[in-house]
Amino acid sequence: MSLVYMPPSIRRFEPLHMVFSTWVDHLPFGYDLVAAIRPKMLVELGTHKGLSYFTFCQSMKENEIDGLCYAIDTFEGDEHTDKYDESVFNSVNNHNRQHYHGFSYLMRMFFEDALKHFNEDSVDLLHIDGFHTYEAVSADFANWYPKVKPGGIILFHDVQARLQDFGAWKFWDEIRGHHETFTFNHGFGLGVLRKPGGDRSQDPELLKVLFEDQSEKSDAALRAFYVHASKHLENNRKLKRLTQDAPAKPVKQA
Ligand SMILES: C[S@@+](CC[C@H](N)C(=O)[O-])C[C@H]1O[C@@H](n2cnc3c(N)ncnc32)[C@H](O)[C@@H]1O
Repeated sequence: MSLVYMPPSIRRFEPLHMVFSTWVDHLPFGYDLVAAIRPKMLVELGTHKGLSYFTFCQSMKENEIDGLCYAIDTFEGDEHTDKYDESVFNSVNNHNRQHYHGFSYLMRMFFEDALKHFNEDSVDLLHIDGFHTYEAVSADFANWYPKVKPGGIILFHDVQARLQDFGAWKFWDEIRGHHETFTFNHGFGLGVLRKPGGDRSQDPELLKVLFEDQSEKSDAALRAFYVHASKHLENNRKLKRLTQDAPAKPVKQA
């Protein structure tokens, strides 16, 4: 990475919504990507408790981005997350209304049923994080790829998760060579794919770092950067918890 890259997550990002999810290691990148591409339209397939989605929304709000966000999920779970109860949707819905009312919408339905609500070439950022079998991930990609704008970005979570019948890794291995892509290996892997086309003359620094300088050295530096960024965030959270939990110092009597 030859450019000096100092993204907003390092300077000022404190997640407002912390819940358990393996997406935790990608929070700084998710925040920075939204800040960099300033999406007019963001769609997430698979939201569950909202860790990735609300990171995107927080970046939209804090970076004053004038766009719309849609979270599509049955909010019932699948065979990988297990079925979950209404409390999950209620808490996501409450957080959404409290912080992102006005630009963020929850679409409680199957991904396939949401397709008709989006025009072709309209989505700037699509996050595919639904059911993780090879068949499900390839169907999500085939169905939603036409909805993404030329030059738009598609994220795939779990492209390095080789467990149970997870198959996002296999699908990613098949397509990555045929597209402009970048792969993060930490946090079960996050694949970043850019659709061909679009005006690239005004590309933000992060897209240049991701896709232009593709030497092994610069790729490794970018991967290492975001591993450190997520550790840094985790350490800050631990420190905050410790200082909050520490008993108040007794006041000395004169
Ligand atoms: C891996 S979780 C999402 C994780 C989330 N992005 C995070 O940050 O933690 C997958 C979600 O996709 C939803 N899902 C799976 N297949 C779906 C489909 N065909 N239509 C709608 N929702 C689906 C499940 O209900 C589940 O909540």
